[in-house]
Amino acid sequence: MTKKLRIGIIGCGGIAHAHARAYAAFDDVEVVAGADIISGKARAFLDEFGWNDADAYDTCEELCAREDIDAVSVCTYNMQHEVCTVAALKAGKHVLLEKPLCVTMEEAKRIVAAEKESGKILTVGFQPRYGANMKQVKQIIEEGTLGDVYYIAVGGGRFRGIPGRTFIEKDKAGFGAIGDIGCYGLDFALNSIGYPKPLTVSATSSAHFGKNPELYAEAHRFTVDDDFASAFIRLEGGVTLDWRVSWAMHMDTLGDFLFLGTKAGLKIKGNPGMCWDGTAGELTLFYNDEKGNPTSKPIPPAVEEKSNLFNQKVRSFIDAILEGKPAPIPTSQIIYNQAIIDGILKSAASGHEVEIEL
Ligand SMILES: NC(=O)c1ccc[n+]([C@@H]2O[C@H](COP(=O)([O-])OP(=O)(O)OC[C@H]3O[C@@H](n4cnc5c(N)ncnc54)[C@H](O)[C@@H]3O)[C@@H](O)[C@H]2O)c1
Repeated sequence: MTKKLRIGIIGCGGIAHAHARAYAAFDDVEVVAGADIISGKARAFLDEFGWNDADAYDTCEELCAREDIDAVSVCTYNMQHEVCTVAALKAGKHVLLEKPLCVTMEEAKRIVAAEKESGKILTVGFQPRYGANMKQVKQIIEEGTLGDVYYIAVGGGRFRGIPGRTFIEKDKAGFGAIGDIGCYGLDFALNSIGYPKPLTVSATSSAHFGKNPELYAEAHRFTVDDDFASAFIRLEGGVTLDWRVSWAMHMDTLGDFLFLGTKAGLKIKGNPGMCWDGTAGELTLFYNDEKGNPTSKPIPPAVEEKSNLFNQKVRSFIDAILEGKPAPIPTSQIIYNQAIIDGILKSAASGHEVEIEL
């Protein structure tokens, strides 16, 4: 039997469990180590999955020093993405990094530099990419059904859905809804049209729910700056992206996803909470029929694959390593996602439109 790929998991909290379940589902990999800065947490996590022989560490550096580890999942909170990813790449490991890429553009640039220097695979964990709905929308656009897309509106959002835990602590998460679920809406829109370069952004943000003890029981712990944001983003190629995100609001959805093209338009019904798990509402195409009459028709939903999105995300990482393929969700794309987030933060703080820094 060929040697199994040897995996380490850095950060053994909530999402690490989804990574662990996915690795456990495949025969050609084995999890041999875990690391978490909370002493004892990595050991308990590994034992939970029956990996009693795997080694537990209190720092990512100790795990990365292990020469027999081929690849790692970085599952720390956002503020520790850069330090762990760079440490792993410098130690010659392939990396599956949880979304978002990181918090600041300075961090993003250091991550990309370490990736280039290492020659290793670095992929970013946007699992909705593997969802049938997101693939279907991308395919419709790539087939040219819409013509040239010139405007995209990103809807979705949560009625009440502040995630709590470390997501609301600024020293750990860095930002609130913008970086947590806002990055998914950006990825949905940008990936659908081939990730054009972002140019400028004008944004606003607020935290009317998270910081209000009458609306949110953990307001005393809520130190991030946003639970809602909206932005008007100019993309290369004359495309406008009208984006918004919400962890909590007095509304069930921020509307439908809309793609306006020169030949047709596509509406994706704005289900409350949609996007980060790959689900979305029904699709309707608006166009002129053969006689030139404006009309619309529903598009049958794509059939979801049986394997769950996390398994597909982890499998695509493993396949890229084993088959020498490029990163499935590369930093060359996600750096644009991060640059828009950076622009949103800067514009919201300054109160005017900013050029997006790359
Ligand atoms: N893809 C998804 O659907 C999804 C869902 C939830 C979270 N996430 C992402 O996953 C990341 C983690 O989220 P979570 O909910 O698991 O957070 P969490 O706080 O539950 O877990 C993070 C863990 O990392 C550990 N840690 C922090 N710095 C470390 C370091 N330098 N070395 C080793 N361990 C370290 C913490 O002690 C903690 O146990 C975030 O970036 C988040 O955006 C993705």
